[in-house]
Amino acid sequence: MNAQDAPADAVSGDAANGEALFNQHCAACHKLDSKLIGPALGGVAERLQDEQGLGVDWLRKWIKNNEELRASGDEYANQVFEEYNEVVMLPFEQLSDQEIDDIIYFTSNPPAPKEEKKAAAPATSATDNSLPLGALLIGFAVLASLLVWILFRVNTLVNLTKQEGGALETEQAESFAETFEKYKNVAYAGMGLITLLVLYGAWQFMIGIGVDKGYQPEQPIYFSHKIHAGEQGIDCQYCHSSAKYGKVSGIPSTNVCMNCHYQIQEYTGDYIEEGKSAEFYTEEIQKIYASAGFDPSNLTYSGEEDPIEWVRIHNMPDFVYFNHAQHVVAGGEAIKSAKGVEQVCFACHGQVDEMDEVKMANDFTMGWCIECHRETKVDMENEYNKEYYAQLHEKLKKQYGSEAEITVDAIGGLECGKCHY
Ligand code: HEC
Ligand code: HEC
Ligand code: HEC
Ligand code: HEC
Ligand code: HEC
Ligand code: HEC
Repeated sequence: MNAQDAPADAVSGDAANGEALFNQHCAACHKLDSKLIGPALGGVAERLQDEQGLGVDWLRKWIKNNEELRASGDEYANQVFEEYNEVVMLPFEQLSDQEIDDIIYFTSNPPAPKEEKKAAAPATSATDNSLPLGALLIGFAVLASLLVWILFRVNTLVNLTKQEGGALETEQAESFAETFEKYKNVAYAGMGLITLLVLYGAWQFMIGIGVDKGYQPEQPIYFSHKIHAGEQGIDCQYCHSSAKYGKVSGIPSTNVCMNCHYQIQEYTGDYIEEGKSAEFYTEEIQKIYASAGFDPSNLTYSGEEDPIEWVRIHNMPDFVYFNHAQHVVAGGEAIKSAKGVEQVCFACHGQVDEMDEVKMANDFTMGWCIECHRETKVDMENEYNKEYYAQLHEKLKKQYGSEAEITVDAIGGLECGKCHY
């Protein structure tokens, strides 16, 4: 053991804050008393000290960035990584030293379990926000049946008169004329209304082309971002791992789900969306196994896979070029500060970590892209831009003065060819 490395009992911290942080960042993969995706963490500081002769500094380094620690050739770090089938634990560089100590302190000094149990959420059905469309359809149906009924009436009357040899008796003629007059107006009114409705629908459709804000299709598995990214604090890029590297963010394959759901076979979380239940969530988890060809009772794979067919929500037309890496890596800091969001993804996709189901948070039109390019200052100091825009930057400085704020439009963000093939 390193001589300066402090012993386990040298850590002091705030157990309550440690618990909150643990639940937010670690509970997806660790429990205190048993193995989950990673080892049990109850009393981990003492255990590592007794069994491995490792002090608290090792733990701090591991939690901060285990990849770096492994890369430095640390023996135990590599050993435990192999022991856990090289499942990668996320780095937690965003946590401060004190926060990490709070977590460690909590794992050694967990507060006594509380008795409270949350009442199950009432099983009311979710509020239906498709009312306008539903109301339109019902109105339409009522009008249509009215019309059919009128036609039917008129037809019967006409038939009746024909049957009687074309000679209308005065009384009948009167009543027919009356009836016809009476219903004719209703019929005209009905037809007028229908025409209006059709025109309104067509107009809505036309202004709505390409604008899908709010689009939220039903998915083959009820996958909750609020539970994964919000409650469990799993990093967006753990699942959408190509956002950093290229054009698309990608949807995770079933293998990624199995990293965790190999073990997590049922839902035991506190958060339950209105109208859902723990049993419902557990059933949804079982659908992953059907897709992966996995038998959770004996943890074996049959080899018969059936990929989950997620319904795509965001989809630009083919003639548009949009690149995630450009916005997440090069533009990331600039966008975060311009929009005041914690994670760059939220600037365009909204607060996904609070959505039970993802829906389109913006209209994703050309105007929307351009508006942001006009407003957002380019971060000329980051690695990427320093390299790519070195020459341009000099030119821009001459053109606008060295103190001027350079927004995306100045580096070509309004040029047709940049966004269109
Ligand atoms: C995505 C899953 C995941 C998350 C989230 C995660 N870990 Fe881990 N952790 C692991 C895995 C898996 C291992 C086993 C080593 C390996 O495979 O890298 C591990 C190992 C560890 C170890 C070494 C334990 C030992 O017995 O050697 C510690 C300490 C640890 N994690 C702490 C944390 C803390 C603290 C957090 C939250 C801030 C956290 N982990 C979040 C997956 C995770
Ligand atoms: C545990 C894995 C996981 C994590 C973590 C995760 N996602 Fe997802 N994401 C998915 C899956 C699976 C889908 C496809 C199903 C759906 O649309 O809900 C998806 C869909 C999406 C979509 C819609 C894609 C489309 O079809 O257009 C967006 C946007 C998105 N995620 C953003 C995020 C953001 C932002 C975060 C972080 C706050 C995040 N995701 C965290 C798994 C994950
Ligand atoms: C990093 C770990 C991790 C990954 C990866 C992961 N999950 Fe989960 N998942 C969890 C945890 C933790 C819970 C909550 C369990 C609890 O609280 O009892 C959960 C809950 C669920 C639930 C029930 C709640 C809900 O969202 O409806 C479903 C369904 C689910 N996961 C599907 C998936 C699918 C599909 C994937 C792959 C696209 C996936 N998960 C990837 C950790 C993970
Ligand atoms: C500048 C706005 C912007 C930012 C920032 C952004 N996205 Fe996107 N995202 C888009 C657009 C536009 C699309 C549609 C792309 C297409 O259809 O080609 C999209 C599509 C997606 C999709 C669907 C699959 C795909 O790649 O086409 C996922 C998943 C996604 N984004 C996740 C993320 C995550 C996670 C982050 C943060 C790391 C993020 N996005 C940041 C604008 C953004
Ligand atoms: C939230 C703000 C924001 C939105 C919305 C946005 N962008 Fe950008 N975009 C940026 C920033 C910031 C940069 C500069 C990145 C850098 O520093 O290189 C950029 C750069 C670009 C570039 C490179 C420009 C060049 O000169 O090389 C293209 C292409 C681009 N965006 C396309 C799009 C498209 C297409 C959309 C809409 C689907 C879009 N962007 C929406 C902020 C945004
Ligand atoms: C910052 C990126 C960006 C720039 C710059 C840009 N466009 Fe677009 N453009 C888009 C996006 C995104 C769409 C798709 C909008 C949709 O699907 O709603 C689009 C759609 C279009 C359309 C199809 C009609 C429509 O509105 O849906 C035309 C035509 C078009 N652009 C022409 C141009 C021309 C001409 C220029 C140069 C003056 C230009 N665009 C510059 C992003 C851009």
